[in-house]
Amino acid sequence: MIITRTRKELDVALKNFSKNSEKLALIPTMGNLHEGHLSLIRIAKKHASKTISTIFVNPLQFGKNEDYDKYPRTHEDDIKKLNDEKCDILFLPVNNKEVFSNIEDIKTIHSGILGSELCGKIRPGHFDGVLTVVNKLFEIINPDVAVFGAKDYQQEILIRQMAVSLHPNIELIKAPIIRAENGIALSSRNNYLSEPELEMAANLYKALYHSAQSYKKNFDLKTIISEAKNYLISKKLIPHYFELRDHNLNKIDINQFEGKKVFLGSVTINNTRLIDNIEF
Ligand code: PAF
Repeated sequence: MIITRTRKELDVALKNFSKNSEKLALIPTMGNLHEGHLSLIRIAKKHASKTISTIFVNPLQFGKNEDYDKYPRTHEDDIKKLNDEKCDILFLPVNNKEVFSNIEDIKTIHSGILGSELCGKIRPGHFDGVLTVVNKLFEIINPDVAVFGAKDYQQEILIRQMAVSLHPNIELIKAPIIRAENGIALSSRNNYLSEPELEMAANLYKALYHSAQSYKKNFDLKTIISEAKNYLISKKLIPHYFELRDHNLNKIDINQFEGKKVFLGSVTINNTRLIDNIEF
């Protein structure tokens, strides 16, 4: 794997690939890689001849009181995992300037109304930060394909909407959620949790799963949601939202919606906020 730490190094590596007209797939990450990320690389390899992963903890997507400083940075371990997966290039910028050359001049991408709902309601500005960095990575890397995980369902939809207008030639692929044995969706933030907390966290998945089953049986949506929230509270999880939406995240408030839909939930365990969803 070629490790590039600056834009210049990245450009050289990319030029060599484009000379050979390789199809390039991008897997953007913030590092602290787990099986979920590695599954994205495996999927990327099915769609392109070369893969590039980025590890960049993007300051723009963290709020003032969030975990930017303490977000786990595990570069040595990450590089080993990417090597084992035979990723072709890693862009691991030495500093923020290698991504946003001029901090004052950043082209902010606005995430609109959807960006202020669900997770965006709890994390104002978060999705603008995500779209701004992903747009930048798309600009500097110009991949043919980019892969994003379905765990961050809202993020994936917002990136898709942004790409339709700004990067119509990039094919976006949504990779399925990878779960631990107890059902919990793999996430770098799971590292903040102790073993008993990880067991508690599995109740979010249980609530989502149970709610999807109940909805399929035509139970009343309002009752399903209030029971799910009460269940989470009884398990000492603090629910932020628990909603049913269609596959584009339009609101659903009827009992027998026929199309593809998704239950999405967010909870806090001690100070760690987790998200998960089940599409059905
Ligand atoms: O999902 C993530 O890890 C981040 O939001 C992303 C897409 C790498 C942008 O920083």
